Amino acid sequence: MSEQLKDLVRTHTCGAIREADVGKPVVLLGWVHRVRDLGALIFFDVRDRYGVTQVVARDDSGLLATAKRLRPEFVVAVIGSVEMRSEETVNPKLATGTVEIAAGDIRVLNEAVRPPFQIAEETSVSEDLRLRYRYLDLRRPRMQQNIQLRHRATNVIRRFFDTHDFLEIETPVLTKSTPEGARDYLVPSRVHAGQFFALPQSPQIFKQLLMIAGMDRYFQIVRCFRDEDLRADRQPEFTQVDVEVSFASQDQIFELIERLMHELFEAVGLGSIEIPFRRLAYSEALARYGSDKPDLRCDLAVEDISKAFVDSNFKVFRQVVETGGAIRALPISGGGTASRRELDDLVARAGELGAAGLVWARYGPDGKVQSSVLKVAGEAAVRSALELAGAGKEDLILIAAGDGVVASKLLGQLRLEIAQKRGWLDPNQFVFTWVVDFPLLEWDEAGRRYTAMHHPFTSPVDADLERLSSEPGAVRAKAYDLVLNGSEIGGGSIRIHDQATQRRMFELLNIGPEEAKSRFGFFLDALEHGTPPHGGIALGLDRIIALLAGETSIRDVIAFPKTATAVDLMAGAPADVDPKQLRELKLRSNG
Ligand code: AMO
Repeated sequence: MSEQLKDLVRTHTCGAIREADVGKPVVLLGWVHRVRDLGALIFFDVRDRYGVTQVVARDDSGLLATAKRLRPEFVVAVIGSVEMRSEETVNPKLATGTVEIAAGDIRVLNEAVRPPFQIAEETSVSEDLRLRYRYLDLRRPRMQQNIQLRHRATNVIRRFFDTHDFLEIETPVLTKSTPEGARDYLVPSRVHAGQFFALPQSPQIFKQLLMIAGMDRYFQIVRCFRDEDLRADRQPEFTQVDVEVSFASQDQIFELIERLMHELFEAVGLGSIEIPFRRLAYSEALARYGSDKPDLRCDLAVEDISKAFVDSNFKVFRQVVETGGAIRALPISGGGTASRRELDDLVARAGELGAAGLVWARYGPDGKVQSSVLKVAGEAAVRSALELAGAGKEDLILIAAGDGVVASKLLGQLRLEIAQKRGWLDPNQFVFTWVVDFPLLEWDEAGRRYTAMHHPFTSPVDADLERLSSEPGAVRAKAYDLVLNGSEIGGGSIRIHDQATQRRMFELLNIGPEEAKSRFGFFLDALEHGTPPHGGIALGLDRIIALLAGETSIRDVIAFPKTATAVDLMAGAPADVDPKQLRELKLRSNG
């Protein structure tokens, strides 16, 4: 213990003192937050992770000289007694706002250089500066709350799985390439020069091996690594709540995760969420919301109105339908009063999003229809479009034509932007949905082959097995995503548990027996040793915490995140290495 601290024991945290403590002697330890020098009187706030308390050094205490030295971020011990604040200085925004400490002694435990930014609740400094001085950024109350929330949530999750008989089992970090479809981070082996470990994109294969090993119920709060393009909701290293269950059906996994979410939301004080969650087929999610992760806080949905134009004179729309395309409409409740300017802006926005055009229609105040294609399409077709879209007198419909999914995606994007602008996405509302019945395979035009939409261990839907050879693209998978407010917070599947289907899957993916053997041979062998039917899910912990905390970027709920260009600005990683290290690894750098 340092000499300065020798006789000092903290009596209260900086967030604890209340009116009931008036008259008590106290010892506070923390950081100087702000100093106000009034000459004969110096006020300063002391801060720790629990809160802020005001201290006053008076002329008669003999402490003014010490107090005048204080600067923000100095570490101090304050010994004093609790007093009521005078009425004018009461701060109702602070939990400690009615009291202050009359200093009897102030010890500077450590000085601090001038911080590059003020430690304030909100800050307008650039994220790069915050990340470079992350240890200071983490002193901000908001970040402290986020990190505490993450800790509490993680505890709830651990306790939940423990009480449901799950074992938390660690899986290797130095391993072999895993099949999640992103690029791997590789680690060179010194002992086996020229060979590499891959960091796991997920523990997928290991958790399946644990089921084969009879562990029955596994979970792990685990770091995963993916070298992929980053966004606000993606980091190169992120945390999954990884789960696998033997002998479980999709319904049982859904029920388990719904109960977990229910407990989690209650435990962090966000109230009781509605379970079970809604289920939405992938094809419906795409058609109705133009997204496989629809934000269902807003109930606007895309309608198919192709029929409205089949008999019309509007050749462009008629031809779209005749050649297998679709006409889709997004009804916007209350949008009927939009000004011409607003309508023009929407059309321009559709152009920016790559659309060839956007058509609108609505009822005028006289009950007659108005539309940007009224002349070419005719009143009857426009009226029929409004009816098919379910539009009322006050509503507007936006119409897109072409490939059905492309049209829905455009309208889905406008749906989100309009909902955001009109305040229809309530940040305090939490709407979950399971997206189910994903296609098993995805056609990769560039490689002219199928790839696994989830991963190659995902089981096809039983009813579609026959179509594996004749129509592989139409086979559905027992795969599911969990979506919360438009964010994909989890994904999983029921796995293939027999070798024949697994081999068939590799054939479809154009992974030959040699390649399958070299990449996943150990796993294929294991499948032969009595594999129970099993399935699981992985939840994106960072995304869940961000949603709980009301943050838009997962970087704000990770203590030491990377930037959007995958750099650690504070530690300065990645970085050059000593040439000696490269020689040991028998590597050469071209950088
Ligand atoms: P998947 O690839 O869907 O599934 O990942 C599961 C969840 O992890 C989160 N996630 C990410 N979060 C932050 N940054 C990233 N780069 C990132 N990538 C993914 C998402 C996602 O839903 N092994 C399978 C799971 C299984 O089948 O059980 C898997 O990893 O929230």
